[in-house]
Formats: sequence, C-alpha cells, structure tokens
Amino acid sequence: MNYLIETIGCQMNVCDSDALGGVLLSYGAVKVNSLADCDAVILNTCAVRAQAEQKAFSFLGRAEEFKKEKKRGLKIVVVGCMAERLGTKIKKRFCGVDLVIGAKDIDNAALKILNLCGMDKNERNEMRGEKSEITRFITIMRGCDNYCSYCIVPMVRGTEISLDYNHILKECALMAENGAKEIMLLGQNVNSYNFGDVNFAALVKKVSEIDGIERIRFMTNHPKDLNDELIEVMASEPKVCSHIHLPMQSASDKILKAMNRKYTYAHYLNLVEKLRKKIPDISITTDMIVGFPQEREEDFQASLQAVKDIRFGGLYVFRYSPRPHTKAADMPDDVPLEEKKRRHAAILEESNKISAEIVSGYVGSVREVLTEKYENGVLEARTRSGRKVFVKGCEKDFGKNINVLIKEAKINSLFGDIDHEKA
Ligand code: SAH
Ligand code: SF4
Ligand code: F3S
Repeated sequence: MNYLIETIGCQMNVCDSDALGGVLLSYGAVKVNSLADCDAVILNTCAVRAQAEQKAFSFLGRAEEFKKEKKRGLKIVVVGCMAERLGTKIKKRFCGVDLVIGAKDIDNAALKILNLCGMDKNERNEMRGEKSEITRFITIMRGCDNYCSYCIVPMVRGTEISLDYNHILKECALMAENGAKEIMLLGQNVNSYNFGDVNFAALVKKVSEIDGIERIRFMTNHPKDLNDELIEVMASEPKVCSHIHLPMQSASDKILKAMNRKYTYAHYLNLVEKLRKKIPDISITTDMIVGFPQEREEDFQASLQAVKDIRFGGLYVFRYSPRPHTKAADMPDDVPLEEKKRRHAAILEESNKISAEIVSGYVGSVREVLTEKYENGVLEARTRSGRKVFVKGCEKDFGKNINVLIKEAKINSLFGDIDHEKA
C-alpha cells in the first residue's frame, strides 16, 4: 500500500503523523509524495482556528475531485483534531472520504487504515530507527486542562495526561542511538508535567543525562505554571537551549482575565525579566491574539506597547476566531473583522521591525549551531536561540555542533561560514 500523509496544525500533530507513518511503514506500506502515486491519502487536521479547518476542507475538496476524475480506488482518511470535532459529519460533506478518526483515537489509526486498505496485519517488521533525523520530537503529555476561554484544544484532545517518564527516557535514548542530537519535548503546557514524583524540571534534567543528546528544547510553556526550578535548570544545564516559547496572548489584564489565562501582565513581565537575568542570551518568543471579545483600543494598545517593550525574538499573532463549545464563543464577537485585521497588521509590523533589528545584531558574531540538514554544499542549522542559519559546508559537518561566523542577515534567516579557528 502506498500512502501520503498531509499534516495541518501544531507540532503535536506533526509528531502524531510521524508515529502513524512509522507504524504504516513497519507493516510494509510505502510512503509516496503525490496523490497520483498513492492508494491512501491521510489528512491530519487542526481545529484551533476556522482558517485551519478551511485549509482541510479545500484539501479534501481537491482529493475528492482527484478520486472522482482520476483514481476511483483512492482511499481518503481524515484524522486529528478537526476529525475529532466533526466526526462523521465530514463524510456527509465529502462523500469521497472513507474513514474519519479523531485525535483521541489516533493510536489506533494505523491499524484502522491498514484494515481499510486490506493490508495483512500479521506481518509486522521491527523497523525502529528508520528515521535518522538530527532533531526528534517526543510527546510527553496529551490533552489540556487549562480551558483558556477561546481554545478548542481541551475539547478535541481531552483531559491532560502526563506520560510515564520511564517510557519517555527510553524513547529519547533510542532516538539518540539512531543519531538524534536534539530532542524537542512536546505538550500543550509542559510546565504542568507530573508523573509520580517527577515534575517537568526533573524530567528535563533526566533527559539531559542521556548520552548522545546534545540539545534539549520544549514547548509550549504557560506563564501561570513556569517556575523558578525550571528556569534554574535552563540556566545551569548546558544542553538546554536558550529559547523559550511563552505565549502571552494579551497584555491587558482585563482581556487576560476574560481569556481565563490566570496571570496578569505584571506576572508575565516578571517572568521575562527573571529569564533574561538568569539566561542572558535567551530568545523569548510568543503567541498573541487580537480582537478578542471586549478588546477595546486601550487593551490593544497595551499589547502593542508590550511588543515594543519586551522585544520578542519572534511572535505569532492571530485574529480571534470563535470556536464551538468554548466559553468565549458565548461572548459577543464584537471586534469587526476590519479592526481585527488592522490590529493584526500593526502587531506584525512592529514585531517584524524588532526581529530585523535582533537578527542584524547577530552579524559579525560567532555562534554555536547544530547542523540539521545538508544539501548541495549548504548546511541548514540552528543557533541555540532557535534561529535558522545557512552555512557553506560539506556533508561531514552534518549533524554536528559547530561554530559559525554570521556574515549576513535576511528577514528571519542568517547566513554564515564555518569558523575554523573556533570550530
Ligand atoms: N497550548 C499551547 C498552544 C495552543 S494553540 C498554548 O497554550 O500556547 C496555539 C495558539 O493559537 C495559542 O497560543 C493562541 O494564540 C492561538 N489560538 C488558540 N485558539 C484561538 C482562537 N480561537 N482564535 C485565535 N487564536 C487562537
Ligand atoms: Fe488551549 Fe490554553 Fe490549553 Fe494552550 S493552554 S491548549 S491555549 S486551553
Ligand atoms: Fe494542535 Fe490544532 Fe490540534 S493546534 S492540538 S492540531 S487543534
């Protein structure tokens, strides 16, 4: 069976798609790159904003059309968060869809897909380690219990569960054996990880003890749960990268309260100051929402001012989009679309300006980067702060921590040469 997986959404979904693909491969399925070559196309969906669902619908429209016109036998499978939310309603809208499997049932998706395609499930090959990627993602917890008032994730991913750290550590060790140098620990709020007597800071410490792992990253953090113990581990453990993604959402206390975020802007700012004091080269990135119900000009101005004051290393800004069954969906969506667009553009403009300034500050400096990809004489690498760097080099430098002299900066990318003196 030839399959193709298309993934929309967050890194959790990317991780799920990888795991699903891994199981399919182990049963002898073959990964292909085009609809024309595949027997089953699997769409892993996101439900977090209406736009993400729109993207899934247009993909399904195209796949269905292809099935009708060119390939009658094509199986179309929809998995993930939107599949969880809409269930078989998806089949009503797109009659070409054969199977819908929600995010909560993702672990059973591979077997269901093999069944659908008439594959023999008795012939499993142990194919662990078929991936030799430098950076590997690992899910350390599922679901979310935070119920931010705008967010659909708790509804589609279910209640928060921390996975057994013994299992996580075993997986990480296996990834390291297979060549991984960097581990990204994933959860909707990793700061509330707790299994037995092991909290997140303790887990990070344990991962840092694994031989072969040179860098550790994690996301996402929640300002209400980020504690001093973790900041201490980040500051003292050299394997932990100097980057933190810490979604702020808004800098207006009125809006933060309505969002059920359970912190104030002062608390957020205090965290930023603490992080910068303990980890001087840290890059802090964030998520923001504009146009939340009741966001007035002064609330928006507070957020814009915060962007100017904090100078984030990067930010994602979203226009508020009401989601079914969330608390905020019951509030009047009272900021007009045009106004949401204006606020969105204003935040982006400011943040792009700051990003450009930060990035140009790298030029002339020597940075330690991990090379994650090699193609045609160019190594693709990342600084410890998470910035992408393109480096002239050869294949022997792939998968290594090397020092690079940064020569040029363009929007969000850096360009440099290997620093042979310090390399
Ligand atoms: N658990 C993570 C990620 C949640 S989804 C966290 O708490 O940060 C990623 C981002 O999408 C959120 O941080 C938020 O900024 C945005 N988002 C979530 N729901 C949204 C909605 N209904 N409208 C607009 N943006 C939303
Ligand atoms: Fe959504 Fe909030 Fe949970 Fe993040 S922490 S997934 S924004 S409910
Ligand atoms: Fe991720 Fe989207 Fe689901 S952000 S958890 S894929 S709703």
